Amino acid sequence: MKTNWNDYYNEEAPVKKEEVNSEENKTSPDPRLQSVDEVQENQNLVEENVEQPASEKMESTLTEEDMKLAKEDLEALDGRVQVDQKAMINSRADLNQLVPFKYEWAWKKYLDGCANHWMPQEINMTQDIALWRSNDGLSDDERRIVKRSLGFFSTADSLVANNLVLAVYRNITNPECRQYLLRQAFEEAIHTHAYQYCVESLGMDEGEIFNMYREVPSVEKKAAWGLKYTKELSDPNFRTGTLENDKIFLANLIAYYCVLEGMFFYCGFTQVLSMGRLNKMTGVSEQFQYILRDESMHVNFGIDVINSIKNENPEIWDEDMISRARHMILEGTQYEIDYARDSMPRGVLGMNAKMMEEYLKFICNRRLVQIGLEEEYPGAKNPFPWMSEIMDLRKEKNFFETRVIEYQVGGSLKF
Ligand SMILES: [Fe+2]
Ligand SMILES: [Fe+2]
Repeated sequence: MKTNWNDYYNEEAPVKKEEVNSEENKTSPDPRLQSVDEVQENQNLVEENVEQPASEKMESTLTEEDMKLAKEDLEALDGRVQVDQKAMINSRADLNQLVPFKYEWAWKKYLDGCANHWMPQEINMTQDIALWRSNDGLSDDERRIVKRSLGFFSTADSLVANNLVLAVYRNITNPECRQYLLRQAFEEAIHTHAYQYCVESLGMDEGEIFNMYREVPSVEKKAAWGLKYTKELSDPNFRTGTLENDKIFLANLIAYYCVLEGMFFYCGFTQVLSMGRLNKMTGVSEQFQYILRDESMHVNFGIDVINSIKNENPEIWDEDMISRARHMILEGTQYEIDYARDSMPRGVLGMNAKMMEEYLKFICNRRLVQIGLEEEYPGAKNPFPWMSEIMDLRKEKNFFETRVIEYQVGGSLKF
């Protein structure tokens, strides 16, 4: 990993070894530092040209008409942004002005996401490669779990990223949330990178893994369900601002944040993480731990966005929308239960499909309550309390301690 700017400098401008070692170079000043004479000379250049704007030296593509239109656009935005002009959807306030903040929680989540930055190559995969290649290291049921998980997630994270960039981003009308969405989109790219990194390290059949969402029914159904809810928004003419379109947009957010990221990831994550707890496929499991940590933040962000939209636009949250939202979460839970049965035809890793079903019902209750609906399965218990520990945001700092420090060093400039 690069730790300071010297590494970047060396990489981009290779210097011959003998040059570095020569006597002359040892005494010459660092070429990146300006001398006092140079500073003075450069300052004089600026002063000489102060009368003539630099841009007038060349033919401009910026016409008077362009300037007039830009001015009109900005005037239509009512001058400086006031907090009360900001809104989750359908706001006309200037989207280029981050402050004053209205949604500080979104900014805070953006900062938390940056503090938890990680990259797949940092995780050691050596043990996994040996175990995957050995003939007796893993049972067929365990192999199925690894393959199914990489198969589903490798395309699911792409679906999520495409939905963010092509559907969600342009319909969210405040810069704080957009800032987080940009961070989230990058995290989704890192997740897809992580799955590809695992597939490549283990020497898996890439065609088999990346086509699972078209070829394995329990995976295909989950992917198709996600695609269904992004379809209308992928039309470039789609705009929020009518009751029905606002509902379509809210349904998209519920589909992706509460179900795709908030439900469809849970069976696979639990399976792979419990494999790591048994000291098997520890590299893949560690990758999944980082991803799960990111995902739990994505879900929390999405829930806050959904609830803010409900509060700001109470007319959308009518009986029809409430029953649509409830049905979506319950339907998603059933698809995930099907996936659990398909990926675990019998007990494996100290768990089975029945336990997973109980867990998914527990998660379902939580998602319903988070958006203000009643539990569907009262009394459903969490058979995997260690999953909550991994996701618990209060422990975030401890969990990431070493990496957070590394990245803080990596980000500082050293000359
Ligand atoms: Fe992701
Ligand atoms: Fe995500």
